[in-house]
Amino acid sequence: MDYKSVEELHEFWKNPGKSNDPKLYLKKSKRSEYLYRFVNQYAETDAKIMEPGCNVGRNLHHLYENGYQNLTGIEINEEAVDLMQQHYADMAENIQVYNRSLENVLPKFKDHEFDLVVFNGCIRTYSYRQRLGLRTNCSNNEITFDCD
Ligand SMILES: C[S@@+](CC[C@H](N)C(=O)[O-])C[C@H]1O[C@@H](n2cnc3c(N)ncnc32)[C@H](O)[C@@H]1O
Repeated sequence: MDYKSVEELHEFWKNPGKSNDPKLYLKKSKRSEYLYRFVNQYAETDAKIMEPGCNVGRNLHHLYENGYQNLTGIEINEEAVDLMQQHYADMAENIQVYNRSLENVLPKFKDHEFDLVVFNGCIRTYSYRQRLGLRTNCSNNEITFDCD
């Protein structure tokens, strides 16, 4: 398999072109509802939850609207984070958002920093998870629900 380098992946996601334009991620997705239902089964509303590759934050926002406010998002794309601040202003002010790469941010977290880490639509991020040993950043609680 021909793997892209981390630098190439960063460049791609910073300027992803039309097929992954951040504006597309403003559209509500059924996955956000699936995510909420999973999370709601396993975590109290005060759980500390992180979404790597959150884009404009539509999944986080669905959790936020349903009472989960101890949220962290990491997103490399600047336009996506700008759109989050415009469209989900209240959430963006009240949660922790890092407009940086996972490689930059994840090593700064302590072991068991999060109760839950959720991945949605991030096959590439999945490989980051393994590469970075993300398990050490949470209490073995991860929900991965790629359904493409
Ligand atoms: C397929 S999108 C999924 C977006 C979001 N999870 C959703 O379901 O709406 C993958 C996201 O991961 C982000 N991403 C990919 N690699 C990243 C990295 N190394 N650091 C931070 N964000 C990254 C991309 O910019 C993109 O927003």
